[in-house]
Amino acid sequence: MSAMLDVQELRLEFKTARGRLKALNGITFGVEKGEVFGLVGETGCGKTVTGLSILQLLPPSAVVTGGAIEFETQNLLTLPADRIAQVRGGKISMIFQDPSSSLNPVFTIGQQMERVIRQHLGKSQAQARRQAEEMLAAVGLPDVRRILTSYPHQLSGGQQQRAMIAMAISCRPRLLVADEPTTALDVTVQAQILRLLNNLRASMGLSIILITHNLGVVAQTCDRLAVLYAGRVVETGVTRDIFTNPQHPYTSGLMAAIPSPGSRGMKLAAIPGAVPSNPGAVIGCPFAPRCALAFERCTVEAPPIVTVSAGHSAVCFLAKST
Ligand SMILES: Nc1ncnc2c1ncn2[C@@H]1O[C@H](COP(=O)(O)OP(=O)(O)O)[C@@H](O)[C@H]1O
Ligand SMILES: [Mg+2]
Repeated sequence: MSAMLDVQELRLEFKTARGRLKALNGITFGVEKGEVFGLVGETGCGKTVTGLSILQLLPPSAVVTGGAIEFETQNLLTLPADRIAQVRGGKISMIFQDPSSSLNPVFTIGQQMERVIRQHLGKSQAQARRQAEEMLAAVGLPDVRRILTSYPHQLSGGQQQRAMIAMAISCRPRLLVADEPTTALDVTVQAQILRLLNNLRASMGLSIILITHNLGVVAQTCDRLAVLYAGRVVETGVTRDIFTNPQHPYTSGLMAAIPSPGSRGMKLAAIPGAVPSNPGAVIGCPFAPRCALAFERCTVEAPPIVTVSAGHSAVCFLAKST
């Protein structure tokens, strides 16, 4: 079965004052219809850049140097600008950690939603308003009439996040890219938003790419996941397989850093060291300098992709097939 979204060997560089920074170094993963797929890793691993690549929302300094992003038989990377504009906000939409990056402060929620719906679906004003009301209700906002006539600043943080999700799903996209959608929220609201995303997946047949630095969020929400490190996928598979049998030391490190209910206030087992500043320049395994299990070969030779079990693979000399 072919995936609805197929990211193949995606490579991307930023032009910087200090030369080229190789941010993505061959990212490969696929997302099936109706699944929640997690992209997880520490800050700077390339999660957001991967999401922005799918929607072609990259800054001008970014250069895609290789790979393909296939969506419904089209390569999004080579689609002309007018066609990608139709896909964006229509079949694929994206939400961000900070609602203010998606919600315009000078328009009401209703005005913003109606504009998007009319633009993509060619509906009348009255139809667009009805659809906006329906979407605000679908994300669990009470009193949708009031929300429609509200400006973003008149809503609470949790309501803004829901309004942003309502806007993102208002054209009934096939794929939603959610970049750290709950990071700024308190734990209770975070759980509500994750539940909401899960419900939308079921009710709308939506596929979701959930981007997060928190493996705990992935455990609650995702069917499958890819662990990113230094712009590479270092481990991927079904969530349960990875949690029961992690094969990359980086994955194990992230698991040890998940806050458990009993550990509140205690210091977490963070992974010592930092992500490499130019991961493309690394020979061997980019995680080796931080890896407690690394040996000499790890620093001079690129590790192999080891198939652990069906659909589960890890890029490490120590990974074992089961
Ligand atoms: N506009 C930019 N200019 C230069 N480098 C960037 C830019 N955006 C991101 N990067 C670099 O690309 C890498 C991946 O960043 P990003 O995708 O934002 O990571 P994540 O979302 O996983 O925290 C990092 O090394 C980051 O510094
Ligand atoms: Mg990010």
